[in-house]
Amino acid sequence: MSQYYKVVITGATGGIGREIVKRLDKKSELIILVGLTKNSLDDLKKELQTKRVFIIEGDISEPHVREQIKILAKREGGINLLINNAGIGDYFMFEDQNPDLVIDILDINLKAPMLLTQSLLPLLKNEPKAEIINTGSIFGYIGYPGFTAYCASKFGLRGFTQALRRELSDTKVNVRYFAPRATKTNFNTNNITEMNIKLGNAMDSPEKVADKFMTFLTHNNYQKKIGLKESFFVFINKVFPKLPDIAISKQLPIIKKYLNK
Ligand SMILES: NC(=O)c1ccc[n+]([C@@H]2O[C@H](COP(=O)([O-])OP(=O)(O)OC[C@H]3O[C@@H](n4cnc5c(N)ncnc54)[C@H](OP(=O)(O)O)[C@@H]3O)[C@@H](O)[C@H]2O)c1
Repeated sequence: MSQYYKVVITGATGGIGREIVKRLDKKSELIILVGLTKNSLDDLKKELQTKRVFIIEGDISEPHVREQIKILAKREGGINLLINNAGIGDYFMFEDQNPDLVIDILDINLKAPMLLTQSLLPLLKNEPKAEIINTGSIFGYIGYPGFTAYCASKFGLRGFTQALRRELSDTKVNVRYFAPRATKTNFNTNNITEMNIKLGNAMDSPEKVADKFMTFLTHNNYQKKIGLKESFFVFINKVFPKLPDIAISKQLPIIKKYLNK
C-alpha cells in the first residue's frame, strides 16, 4: 500500500474515527471526512495538516449523501482507502426495542457501508492498490443480550467483508474487518459503562484502538479482534458455543439491570 493514502472515512468525528483521522493525517494526500455534525467536522478539519481535506455532512443511510461522497472522491482523482467506521448502537431487550431503531441500526451499520462500498468500488479498482476496512465489533462474532440488532448488523458486516474480499481476490482491492471491544466513546452511555464495569469487561481508550487500527492497516491480516480474552472467547464461541451460552446466561440479570430506559 502506498504511503500516501487517499481516504474516505465515515464516522470521522466520533471517538474512534477522529483518532484514526489524526493518525492518518501525515500519511495522507486526501482525506474526505464524513459525519453528521458540521461543527465537529469543521473543527477536525482545522486540526489537520493534510493539504486536501474535505467534509461531507450527512446521514450515510441517505442515497444522496453517498452520491455526494462518490462525486467528491471522483472529482479529487479517486481514493485508495475506504474506512466504513460510522455506527450506532442501542441497549434494549429486543422485544422492547423500537422497531424504527432496529431499522436504523441495520441501515447505518450494514446497508449504508455496503452501498457506499459498491458505489466507490470503481474508483478503488482504478488504483494500483486499495483497501476497504470495515469497523465491526467483537459483537460481530459473539451474540450478546441487549445488543441483538447491533450484533446482527456487525455479524452481517463481517459476512459482507468476507464475501467481498473473496469476490475481489483477483483485483488489487483488499477488504478487511476491524473489531474493537468496548471503547470509551460517546457510543457507550453511562449505563453501558456501568454494566461493563460490573461485569469486569475491559474498555479501551479510543487512542489505543486507533493505534491498533494503524498497525492493522500496515499489515495484511484480513481481520483484527482487539483483546486477548475477547479473541479467546470468540474462538470458544465458534467451537463450543454452549460454553458462552452458559457463561452469558449467568450475566443476564446484570445485563438486564443496566438496560437503556
Ligand atoms: N465504542 C465502542 O464500544 C465500540 C466497540 C466496538 C465497535 N465499535 C464501532 O466503532 C465504530 C465507531 O464507534 P465510536 O465508538 O467511535 O462511536 P461514536 O463516538 O458514537 O462515533 C460514531 C460516529 O458515527 C457517526 N454517525 C452515526 N450515525 C451516522 C450516520 N447515519 N451517518 C453518518 N455518520 C454517522 C457519528 O457522527 P457525529 O459525530 O456527527 O454524531 C460519529 O462520528 C462504530 O462502527 C462502532 O459500532 C465501537
